[in-house]
Amino acid sequence: MDQKHAHRKDEHIFIAEKQYTAKSNNGLDQIRILPNNLPELSFDEIDYSTSLAGKKMEVPFFINAMSGGSPTTTKLNKKFALAASETGIAMATGSQSIAIKFPEISPSFQIVREQNPTGFVIGNLGAGNNLHNAKKAVSMLSADALEIHLNAIQEIIMPEGDRDFYWQEEISEIINQLQVPVIIKEVGFGISPNTLKILKKINAKYIDLSGHGGTNFAKIENQRLHGEDFSCLDDLGLNIAECLIASQSYHDDFSFTASGGIRTPLDIIKCLCLGADNVGISGLFLHTLLKDDVSGLIKLIEEFKHQVKSIMTILGCKNIAELRDVPLIFSNELLSFKKQITNF
Ligand code: FNR
Repeated sequence: MDQKHAHRKDEHIFIAEKQYTAKSNNGLDQIRILPNNLPELSFDEIDYSTSLAGKKMEVPFFINAMSGGSPTTTKLNKKFALAASETGIAMATGSQSIAIKFPEISPSFQIVREQNPTGFVIGNLGAGNNLHNAKKAVSMLSADALEIHLNAIQEIIMPEGDRDFYWQEEISEIINQLQVPVIIKEVGFGISPNTLKILKKINAKYIDLSGHGGTNFAKIENQRLHGEDFSCLDDLGLNIAECLIASQSYHDDFSFTASGGIRTPLDIIKCLCLGADNVGISGLFLHTLLKDDVSGLIKLIEEFKHQVKSIMTILGCKNIAELRDVPLIFSNELLSFKKQITNF
């Protein structure tokens, strides 16, 4: 076991939890939903099934990438997988790069599949990995899909991080040749429309916009810091409200996952109204697991399921397609962002 890498995985978990706040800055509070006072619908009619990486999902939110690579994060992976299996939601593991380098670490990720043999499991690798590594990551988990994360900001802050960001060619090869669907994701700084333009050219279909305002890897790396103070990057990025607005003209090209600072069922609803097909949650689920263990996480997921359906009911929307027509009111700040972003 490589101690240095394993230690980093633990640090990410514990610093993320230390920095966790009940309220995030996901930007969704700048969007108001116009109420519907005559919903003409009953709770039992709600069907919130959707798709994730091209596959039908019964529940429109999932546990996003976080864990694996050390004894502590193996235990967390096991617990996340138990919660995913029990509640029938999808789950992504944390980056498997460490297990590609040190195959003896693979069980830290394989435990997710063992606990959830029939569930939808998503593997995860950093950009910069090649097709060969991507195939290994998928077969390690019998993964149903693979996330490739774009984390240039995080890498440049990490003293041990990458300094070489020629990523497009390998990403393109993976997208076009891997046997399972590939989700291109950020890690909490948001994917911008100019990046979407490139991702479209290389045939990407599934994008997790992973916006700013929840887990903040600039702040996490700065707290771990063993070198330069990079706190000037703490505020760089787009939040998920901005990302979803900025990507409006790409809705025919991609299926979007919304993530980054999701805290409530209403946050999920707003992301679905703005065109996301599904929603990924990391920080909140980690916090809940550490505080209330698996039973607490299962309880929260069940409450979220019930409340998402409840909100759909009072909005008079029996499915996700109908949420897209809900009238939304934007703050002046967001309106100004919307106007300016169309230039890019
Ligand atoms: C992450 N995230 C992440 N993403 C990824 O693609 N690979 C990874 O290995 C990790 N590792 C990781 C560890 C921890 C402790 C956290 C909290 C998060 C990023 C995650 O998937 C997500 O994109 C961001 O955290 C934003 O969502 P939240 O946390 O604000 O809901």
